[in-house]
Amino acid sequence: MKRIAVLTSGGDAPGMNGAIRSVVRTGINRGWEVFGVRRGYDGLINGDLKPIGSRDVSNILQLGGTILGSARSHEFETEEGRERALKALRKHNIEGIVIIGGNGSQRGAYTLTESGFPVVGVASTIDNDLYGADITIGVNTALNIALEAIDRLKVTASSHQRGILVEVMGRDCGYLALMAGIAGGAEVIIIPEIETAPDRVAKQLREAYEKGKPHALVVVAEGAKYNAERLARYFKDHYELGFELRVTILGYVQRGGTPDASDRLLATRLGAAATDCLARGEVGVLVGLIKNEIATTPLKVVATTKKPIDLSLWDLAQELAK
Ligand code: F6P
Repeated sequence: MKRIAVLTSGGDAPGMNGAIRSVVRTGINRGWEVFGVRRGYDGLINGDLKPIGSRDVSNILQLGGTILGSARSHEFETEEGRERALKALRKHNIEGIVIIGGNGSQRGAYTLTESGFPVVGVASTIDNDLYGADITIGVNTALNIALEAIDRLKVTASSHQRGILVEVMGRDCGYLALMAGIAGGAEVIIIPEIETAPDRVAKQLREAYEKGKPHALVVVAEGAKYNAERLARYFKDHYELGFELRVTILGYVQRGGTPDASDRLLATRLGAAATDCLARGEVGVLVGLIKNEIATTPLKVVATTKKPIDLSLWDLAQELAK
């Protein structure tokens, strides 16, 4: 292999830059040329790729976001878009590509694999919903940001004996909400994987109030049927909770953080593992951390399997909230 490319795709995640740096430097150390693709699959379709050197990735390890830029490409979902992308790769004599991203990005990676192009995926998304990785790049930082916000919200809520409804990201996956809820000491956690009736939440809040708790914390995943907005509206129309309720939607704040130590280390390890895979010809796979070891999983399996979340932690959260 002489020339490879690297791209970041989908929602940016803190640590993506560490993965880019690792791919670039370990690739160059093998004697390869590395090309950076701008703005994910959109950039690939438009042939927006150029050589990237070791010095170009200096001083980026600590930066959130992605220096290459990212996109959610609709064009790449079309046959024509994929053909254009392949044409750009051939034109630049690229022999393998590393795709850093989450679910949608790795589904895209799988379609490239299907057309015979050597691809290695790197597991990166704050949602932690990617099969083939116990923990993905960006999760830990996003979780810490959510927790910092929750800790602060609890302080002000306790001063007023209020209820706080915090919505965290995660698209259709409740991982971030569950973990932030447990680590933040939530009275109630609402995730898409478990249907939660608002009446039950109201009852739990009322009970917390009657027990004399200084505040009550509800952590809700954005993808839950009753997200923060719907829940707040429902309570306003139907209930006397005891607590006065305040809503905070954390949104993109969780994505733009400075990658913490574990995300930098994970990104560095996975980036190096990706060039290892390309070097030994193990392609069409995702590299991710499984049971604390670097593991590879076929992109076909990644693209077609839903990652479950550990619901025993949900039971634990219920027990601790009493
Ligand atoms: O995939 C990461 C994520 O931040 C999800 O948690 C969220 O639902 C989504 O991206 C938001 O996507 P966009 O950046 O396209 O608005």
